[in-house]
Amino acid sequence: MTKSPVAIRPARGKLGVLTPGLGAVATTFIAGVESIRRGTSKPIGSLTQMATIRLGQRAEKRSPLIRDFVPLAGLDDIVFGAWDPIPDDAYTSAKKAGVLEDRHLEPLREFLQAIRPMKAVFDQHYVTRIHGTHVKTGATKRDLAEQLRQDIRDFKAANGCDRLVAVWCGSTEIYIAPSAVHATIESFERGMDENHPDIAPSMLYAWACIMEHVPYNNGAPNLAVDAPALLALAEREGVPVSGKDFKTGQTWMKTVIAPALKARMLGLAGWYSTNILGNRDGEVLDDPASFKTKEASKLSVLHTILQPEMYPDLYEGFSHVVRINYYPPRGDNKEGWDNIDIVGWMGYPMQIKVNFLCRDSILAAPIVLDLALLSDLAGRAGRKGIQEWLSFYYKSPMAPAGLLPEHDLFIQQTKLKNTLRHLMGEEQITHLGLEYQP
Ligand SMILES: NC(=O)c1ccc[n+]([C@@H]2O[C@H](COP(=O)([O-])OP(=O)(O)OC[C@H]3O[C@@H](n4cnc5c(N)ncnc54)[C@H](O)[C@@H]3O)[C@@H](O)[C@H]2O)c1
Repeated sequence: MTKSPVAIRPARGKLGVLTPGLGAVATTFIAGVESIRRGTSKPIGSLTQMATIRLGQRAEKRSPLIRDFVPLAGLDDIVFGAWDPIPDDAYTSAKKAGVLEDRHLEPLREFLQAIRPMKAVFDQHYVTRIHGTHVKTGATKRDLAEQLRQDIRDFKAANGCDRLVAVWCGSTEIYIAPSAVHATIESFERGMDENHPDIAPSMLYAWACIMEHVPYNNGAPNLAVDAPALLALAEREGVPVSGKDFKTGQTWMKTVIAPALKARMLGLAGWYSTNILGNRDGEVLDDPASFKTKEASKLSVLHTILQPEMYPDLYEGFSHVVRINYYPPRGDNKEGWDNIDIVGWMGYPMQIKVNFLCRDSILAAPIVLDLALLSDLAGRAGRKGIQEWLSFYYKSPMAPAGLLPEHDLFIQQTKLKNTLRHLMGEEQITHLGLEYQP
């Protein structure tokens, strides 16, 4: 038996996708969507475009594409906007990022050249390795955030958009611990007026987007919207938010392998992960303050999945080390090595080695697309605050206060699909299978 579907406003008109940050990930995303629209690429890696969803009992054989099941914006309805402290247009930025080859970039040259970033809210204190010149000025952080609000309104009007969503594709900022200024909407807004140092640019974008009712998704590990003040604002204004830190290479693998070890009750003595990476992101992460933010995001995963408190014989005191080394010759083509020391029957040690030669932005681009489309769906469905069902896409998923985040990729996938079933009034799939028994 199905339940009533949730009322969802139809996806009519244009959807503006705004990215603070027009670097490797954002330009790879934009170029990819345009290439797909022109029929020259396929949306590989995107669930919203390629995945199916099973509905009802297996015997019913109903497995539509997700995009035919839920009312998503079509790719042809997307328009792109961005902010960046570096004034390069999307073509120049993509060329410098070196992710896409000329055979993909050159046919899109004019289209990409027309996408020029708006001036950013940027302060080198928060991203020491970027030297931004294309930057807003204002007496207070509140002034700067109000300028972002104006950009959002201007972009919407100039492009005739019905709705907007934002996906942070900007650099990883230095580590900021949550403090009193982030505690309430009032303390945060006072902090903006007083130029409080614990309010980073990413938080101003989050504040501005929420105030303009633009769903905000955070692809980097910096706090941004993951602060009580901004979460309260999102609830008050009825805006969906999600984060943090796109789950792409090594951590994605971790959230597949760690649940497999735990499912078989195999122990873990240690997990050593190292990477070489040569893009601008790698350069930013070469700064210890930005790396600390990333490290915190990468380290939390194993503990939450393996629950050493519940399984001390298997997981108590395991060693977990994560390194990122900036190595320019590799560009965006990251290489990651994992050495996993596992423990089996009667305590015998074994090892798993993973050597992942990945392309960071090629893995991240479809995530940006899915987050844009699904957070727009969430907004039209009247959802607000943290969208836990989007945890699937994040290394460091946000969870309501007092609850542990879910890191296991396959539980996250089930949650995502069950949320879509719920929105459309379809039955949840339990895999119990009693109905097939004689
Ligand atoms: N590629 C991946 O697999 C992956 C995975 C997880 C997270 N991320 C995160 O996504 C983000 C983007 O990655 P990338 O490879 O595109 O990096 P990038 O360095 O190529 O691009 C980031 C861009 O953000 C801009 N920027 C910095 N501060 C800004 C601000 N305040 N406002 C607007 N723009 C700002 C920079 O000038 C730069 O052009 C990074 O934070 C990265 O850590 C990427």
